Amino acid sequence: MIPTPDLSHIKKQDYDRVYEPAEDTFLLLDALEEDEKLIQSLKPRICLEIGSGSGCVTTLLAKIVGDSNALFLTTDINSFACETTRQTGLQNKVTRIEPINTSLVDGILPRLKNRIDILCFNPPYAVTPHEEVGSFGIEASWAGGIDGREVIDELLPYIKDILSPQGLFYLLLIEENKPKEIVEIMKNQYGMNAMIIMQRRAGREKQFIVKIHH
Ligand SMILES: C[S@@+](CC[C@H](N)C(=O)[O-])C[C@H]1O[C@@H](n2cnc3c(N)ncnc32)[C@H](O)[C@@H]1O
Repeated sequence: MIPTPDLSHIKKQDYDRVYEPAEDTFLLLDALEEDEKLIQSLKPRICLEIGSGSGCVTTLLAKIVGDSNALFLTTDINSFACETTRQTGLQNKVTRIEPINTSLVDGILPRLKNRIDILCFNPPYAVTPHEEVGSFGIEASWAGGIDGREVIDELLPYIKDILSPQGLFYLLLIEENKPKEIVEIMKNQYGMNAMIIMQRRAGREKQFIVKIHH
């Protein structure tokens, strides 16, 4: 079992500015750990986490991939999250994380078209008024707009162009995001394989991991 990354360098007040890992984060970590052998067998060269927040997920992914020359790119719309992601890598002796302060995959495509072997996203999934979407601060951690789907839906058209032929995408969703509908969209509209691989209740939330690949 791979230990949860050390986050002791992040101070309590930092969590006013960057998302504090919670049950959703841990479900995503568990999904990656469950696929540890599969991920290692792919020998990933470039991994990307969208919305890396504290950097906890990418750091664990780097530990799973192990000693290799793989590159771990992260994006976040919140610049403090990018800084924290880098620090979390260093705190855990992971030096190959390159945080990019951008939205979703802006600046990644077209250069890295079909080059991403492992893609992860724990998105802002909470149902909120549309007007709350699009901040650059801590609100961007949760504000998902109508059905909590606005940021997620913006990404879906790019997935087939991001993933390498062997690439795997791990996406966290909650019931309100209509995970089954997202699976159908990925299959019928984009011709990808998609399935729910994990689900768990966390208080009032029902959380899911959807895995998507070519
Ligand atoms: C629920 S938090 C997840 C943070 C971390 N990955 C985790 O699992 O603990 C969502 C993250 O997505 C970021 N985010 C929101 N909208 C984004 C966008 N359009 N592009 C990139 N990152 C975004 C937020 O700033 C936040 O860090």
